[in-house]
Amino acid sequence: MSSGAPGSGPVSWSGESAEFDDYAAEYQGGLDNPVKRMMGSSPDQFIAVKTRWLMRREPALRTGGLAVLDYGCGVGSLMRVLAGTGARAAFTGCDISSGMLREVEKRWPAPLGAPPALAPQQGARTPFADGQFDVVTVSAVLHHVPVAERPAVYAELGRVLRPGGRLYVFEHNPRNPLVRHVIARTPIDRNAVLLDPTEVRHGLLDAARYDLDTDYLMFMPPGLAFLRPVDRVLAWLPLGAQYVVAARKPA
Ligand SMILES: C[S@@+](CC[C@H](N)C(=O)[O-])C[C@H]1O[C@@H](n2cnc3c(N)ncnc32)[C@H](O)[C@@H]1O
Repeated sequence: MSSGAPGSGPVSWSGESAEFDDYAAEYQGGLDNPVKRMMGSSPDQFIAVKTRWLMRREPALRTGGLAVLDYGCGVGSLMRVLAGTGARAAFTGCDISSGMLREVEKRWPAPLGAPPALAPQQGARTPFADGQFDVVTVSAVLHHVPVAERPAVYAELGRVLRPGGRLYVFEHNPRNPLVRHVIARTPIDRNAVLLDPTEVRHGLLDAARYDLDTDYLMFMPPGLAFLRPVDRVLAWLPLGAQYVVAARKPA
């Protein structure tokens, strides 16, 4: 498949939806890996490290009114855990895998109300209007995007974010040896190419203007709640298992 990326001419696009469709029904956030299982007993514990960070960073998630896109939403875990811990937002999920998108509705608990709006990524095009979202989250997606296709993704993320909007890119930290160990042994990651925060920052800035900062997350096993304060103290140290690049688009 090939498609035009805004402002960058035609790009080839692998569009390997089927690769992720194969994992959709059983997707458990990589918890099939025994080392990862030692760190936490449920996939949601790992997602909750990111959602707690987001709830602190975006207090308006509690009061409602934000239009939030979760790009590469997979089975919808980030939106589901956010909603389950009190976030009120107009959630939209998009993903290259229609199999993953089908799982979002299946796994969305009825007490949380209507499931998010969903749309399949259309090749290089993210199927939303310019400036449609206040907040865009991208969690554990970019390492699956072939390096040559990442500039088109950065361009689309910048396009759908409104002026003054915020973009949060969560990724595995390649500097953490345990992360590299787990990724090398996790089936869904067989084609993954990890990227560090510098690559994310440069990729974003090549596509749009942003104010940027980076936090490191998940120094302690997510299953051990009493160690959470340690994570917050160490957020500056580039060794956490995860990082988040926070990008604010000037108003
Ligand atoms: C490891 S899963 C992460 C899912 C979810 N964001 C989470 O944190 O649980 C990676 C997801 O990225 C999606 N994906 C990969 N390449 C993509 C692309 N170019 N555009 C949109 N989604 C993509 C896959 O289909 C898959 O659902």
